[in-house]
Amino acid sequence: MKGVILHGGQGKRLRPLTHMGPKQLIPVANKPISQYVLEDLVKAEVKEVAIILGDVYPEKVKEYYSNGSAFKAKVSYIHQGEPKGIAHAVGLCKEYVRDDPFIVYLGDNLLKGGIKPYVKSFKISNYDAMILLCKVEKPQLFGVAKFNKNSEIIGLIEKPKNPPSNYALTGIYFFKPVIFEMIKQIKSSWRGELEITEAIQLLLENGYNLGYHVVNGWWKDTGSPEDILEANRLVLDELIPEIKGKIEDSNSIQGRISIGENTLIKQGALIRGPAIIGKNTSVERNVYIGPYTSIGNNSTIKQGEIENSIIMDHCLIDVKERIIDSLIAPHSKINSTQKNKPSGRRFILGERSYVEL
Ligand code: DAU
Repeated sequence: MKGVILHGGQGKRLRPLTHMGPKQLIPVANKPISQYVLEDLVKAEVKEVAIILGDVYPEKVKEYYSNGSAFKAKVSYIHQGEPKGIAHAVGLCKEYVRDDPFIVYLGDNLLKGGIKPYVKSFKISNYDAMILLCKVEKPQLFGVAKFNKNSEIIGLIEKPKNPPSNYALTGIYFFKPVIFEMIKQIKSSWRGELEITEAIQLLLENGYNLGYHVVNGWWKDTGSPEDILEANRLVLDELIPEIKGKIEDSNSIQGRISIGENTLIKQGALIRGPAIIGKNTSVERNVYIGPYTSIGNNSTIKQGEIENSIIMDHCLIDVKERIIDSLIAPHSKINSTQKNKPSGRRFILGERSYVEL
């Protein structure tokens, strides 16, 4: 079985973070979202993987994953360019997958527990396609399944105004090559895209066998800054503590913390987990790092309080303030000159931002 990771799209809702790279490379708990996807495929023994590239710095994706050997995978790249739809991207893989069944995994989706049991289930089934559903509160934001009384799927609708159920399609699809015939027949939707939801609907209409599972545990589509912070919380909730760097005073850490090589936590700092701090980072005296914070590599936290935030690589934070619910891209600096402590600041900063408070 082969895998296909969608790494295109424009990431408009994540600007300015996506001005300097694709959204799927944004780190959650210090690891790009699409790396969780690739690792999940590899864990399920799906090691031959094509990554579909868009127009947003595709070279950064190639540089990161290269030929895949560092991730125990064999990675190839297929260029989509402009995002003409998930089905369009899948259609580009026909030559790559040939006669094999395959898995399409959206590069911005995270699934607790992973896909391994579902891969097994698809392999032994006679399904022409299989989807994973998740019960959600706002189904109108997703593709949604319609069921009959016997809990069989009788329809799929993309972002319906009046959802027929609360079961959303996750961005993980299992296909046999017959899907390519359906993709050829569908037309662009109201949002100008070839919708994979419509291609699967066409499978149903033509009497093909569609299977499904409802996923256990959480599933997250990381389309917005709030989603990314939530994904960060969900992943940090399962963090396995690991201390590789140096902590001057053991009283500085409370709860589950991971600290990378060559990182120094100075005496007087307080880190309350779950939190992760990368390599070569320095956390100085009197700094407070609160729960659900991820701090990348080669950063300096000189002063300040940070909570429920993602601070990426090569950042400098030197503030007399509290930074909360923020996403701060690499090479950013936040300095403060104020004397009074306000209640908290929220930032979404693109790469190389400079803020003085
Ligand atoms: O996340 C699950 C949802 O994903 C499903 O419930 C929907 O049925 C499905 O249409 C999709 O909806 P989104 O509106 O969230 O899709 P989005 O445009 O965000 O694209 C999903 C991923 O695929 C994202 O990582 C970007 C990538 N992509 C998207 C398009 C349209 C591509 O690589 N190429 C594309 O042309």
